[in-house]
Amino acid sequence: MKRYWKVAVLANIKDDSQPKPEGVPPDAFSDFDHIETIDSLRAAIETDGHKTVFIQADRELPFALRDHQPDICFNIAEGLGGDAREAQVPALLEMMGIPYTGSRVLTNGISLDKTLTKRIWRDRRLPVAPFQEFIVGDEPLRPELKYPLFVKPAREGTGMGVDTKAIVTKEKELRERAQYIINTYQQPALVEVFLPGREFTVGILGRADAKLYSRNPEWYEKDGFHRFPILELDMTRSVTPKVYSNASKSKEVGEEGAPGYFCPAVVEPELEKKLRYFALRAHQLLGALDISRTDIRLDEEGNPRLLEINTLPGLTPDYSDLCLQAKAEGIRYEDLILDILYLGASRWGMVAPRELPTPAKN
Ligand SMILES: Nc1ncnc2c1ncn2[C@@H]1O[C@H](COP(=O)(O)OP(=O)(O)O)[C@@H](O)[C@H]1O
Ligand SMILES: [Mg+2]
Repeated sequence: MKRYWKVAVLANIKDDSQPKPEGVPPDAFSDFDHIETIDSLRAAIETDGHKTVFIQADRELPFALRDHQPDICFNIAEGLGGDAREAQVPALLEMMGIPYTGSRVLTNGISLDKTLTKRIWRDRRLPVAPFQEFIVGDEPLRPELKYPLFVKPAREGTGMGVDTKAIVTKEKELRERAQYIINTYQQPALVEVFLPGREFTVGILGRADAKLYSRNPEWYEKDGFHRFPILELDMTRSVTPKVYSNASKSKEVGEEGAPGYFCPAVVEPELEKKLRYFALRAHQLLGALDISRTDIRLDEEGNPRLLEINTLPGLTPDYSDLCLQAKAEGIRYEDLILDILYLGASRWGMVAPRELPTPAKN
């Protein structure tokens, strides 16, 4: 079995110096990555002897893949347009028979769609706030949706389309906001009961047989999963109090107007148990693979309600929620990235169980 691979990092890069094309929302492409994140990923992968190449996940991707012939792709690509953009690159790689990391087509397609995701969770009794999808905007509001409500695009990420105006307190505001979302983002508006409580995000790494393929088997619990320490987002001093918006996510950690990041969050053991359990079930019910991060808020009675799952969580060191969680428990960025790579590779038969050397402890 080949020990050193050619690893292609696939991503969509944002270039803030370029003007946005006409007709796209003001916060379009916020989920794209900066080139520095790609450099960090490549450096992490190269620490274990692999060669890396970065390939932009645009319309030239099929040709670039044919030219580069990578052994495996480290996929963080958000994709371009359509109703399931995060599934585009996995679909292409499956078609070309190229191994890649993380969740596959169906999971990435569904998890981008918050309405579909919540329908699946609700069906299996995971707690979600009452919700309704507005496709035209003037649908009659269902009686269980009591004000204040929260309106967001059904298929965006990184707080796109989300600011303090997302909270609506009466019919007129609701209709205006739903119409704004539908027109600006060209997709349905998801309307939910507003959750006024604390906000957490919970990362999951691994799967049943993770210990066999990890360089760090001690990270994984008996069931094969690693639960990262819970991260609490404190919005009180953020530019958009109450909401983890696109504007607040754009701030550096610690910068004026950024949310407070607390990890591990100070929570009662019972709540902590629930948050971890829900994040794991959320991951499993969507068929997520190896890595995910689930956002959860408390309702007015303090009960957790699942907001969404990120099956392509941001991986910018010292900035992305998942990286902050790993750091809080002393997991090095390089080790996190390599475990995602090896767990992915093992599913494509590229790693023999327990073949990998465990890293020397200093
Ligand atoms: N029902 C809700 N009640 C209160 N706040 C919400 C609700 N839904 C979303 N938010 C706020 O908006 C932010 C972004 O929403 P989320 O569903 O996580 O989408 P994304 O992170 O993909 O943009 C959340 O982190 C939270 O602060
Ligand atoms: Mg979120």
